[in-house]
Amino acid sequence: MNLYGRIPNNVNLDEDKKLQRALEHWVPNFLNWWQAMGPDGFQTKDVYLRTAISVDSGGWANFDYVKMPDYRWGIFLEPPRPDAKVGFGDNYGMAAYQDVPGEYRHALRRILVTQGDTEPASVEQQRELGKTCPSLYDLRNLFQVNVEEGRHLWAIVYLLHGYFGRDGRDEADALLERRSGDSDKPRILEAFNQPCDDWLNFFAFTMFTDRDGKFQLSALSESGFQPLARTCKFMLTEEAYHMFVGDSGLGRVVKRTAQLMKQNPNEDVRDLGGIPLEIIQKYINFWFSYSLDLFGGEISSNSADFFCAGLKGRFREQEQYSDHVARNQTFTLMIVEDDQLKPREVPLRNALNEILRDEYVKDCQKGLAHWNKALADEGLNDRISLPNTRFHRHVGEYARHSFDIDGNLISQDEFEQHRSEWLPTLEDREYVRSLMHPVTEPGKIANWIAPPSTRIKGKPFEFEFVRL
Ligand SMILES: [Fe+2]
Ligand SMILES: [Fe+2]
Repeated sequence: MNLYGRIPNNVNLDEDKKLQRALEHWVPNFLNWWQAMGPDGFQTKDVYLRTAISVDSGGWANFDYVKMPDYRWGIFLEPPRPDAKVGFGDNYGMAAYQDVPGEYRHALRRILVTQGDTEPASVEQQRELGKTCPSLYDLRNLFQVNVEEGRHLWAIVYLLHGYFGRDGRDEADALLERRSGDSDKPRILEAFNQPCDDWLNFFAFTMFTDRDGKFQLSALSESGFQPLARTCKFMLTEEAYHMFVGDSGLGRVVKRTAQLMKQNPNEDVRDLGGIPLEIIQKYINFWFSYSLDLFGGEISSNSADFFCAGLKGRFREQEQYSDHVARNQTFTLMIVEDDQLKPREVPLRNALNEILRDEYVKDCQKGLAHWNKALADEGLNDRISLPNTRFHRHVGEYARHSFDIDGNLISQDEFEQHRSEWLPTLEDREYVRSLMHPVTEPGKIANWIAPPSTRIKGKPFEFEFVRL
């Protein structure tokens, strides 16, 4: 098989013998992994998918039926900018790194591996979902997200193969060996070891956890390491759709619940086969809090090191900030001291995880506005909210303490007393799972979710998005 003819790319793969050899070894392993850990039960079906075949506006969104194992995963970088400069940190204004600077090799590899690990992890988490799809439209969206996470893995593997020699190749192999939720060889970040086994989980995951990806990739898209910056810029074009799937998916569930509440205002929507608002809220609490952990500790010397080195900056660093060195600035955050929450001033460079997290929270609020509008449109007074960022954390300053949903410090006992009000219980999860029956007739939709209001490439909801 002519491997290179089939891999869409703009990285001169045809002439790069070293990269060809590395991929010759890795691609068959990737395809084996995809068969074993990719969407279960649908590998031979035709799916109406978007494939990127080049980075220009006409090439990155080609729609056609394709069987997932035949998807043309490609390697794309934004065009190089030979005059690019390091945009922040101690080397601000110097020529950007076209290769890996020796002193940053370890830090860069760590950034790449941590990001790269999330891509196959989410495919593993979602592999059973196809069997309970609420419609063919949603099934197609699930698979679109899955194949693109596969391509993001390729993007990171390209950087590991192309710039990190032997240990890069070893890390690329290890990305296919860890498994989400496996106690012996788990994925690196905890949100990516949590089960995502029903569609409410899937929509909350793509809303909140994929959105973490947007902020990590955005920060890296301004990296002084040019190949990384150029890779991340292109990944972001695909990531936007994943968040749309989550945001609009949750919105459609909320809308349907609101309709059922109106039909039967004195009764639990359970009687009508809907998902109660309080369960939706608990799923949001769960995935929002786990996704906050992905930004890392509030006070972090790693984040300072990455910034100083010019590797990872703030969100929209060039656009939003004027001081890109940030040497003498400070940032105030709340920490627990003597059993009380107290403000503490820290060097700004040590608070960059928290600063990126703040941007993320602002972005999440936009989704909330959509869902609450759906409630208001149906004439209901109930509203969805985000928990305080201190609630239910497993990483950082707040992990060692317990907080209520509003961020007040409470005892662990109090937390446990309220746990079932704030987070999904086993019964909640079982109830949601009990609603998950596949609906696969074109134009039909499950009872617990409203149909979409948007089309895919002009195709109406009735279109046969997956040929079963
Ligand atoms: Fe991704
Ligand atoms: Fe994603």
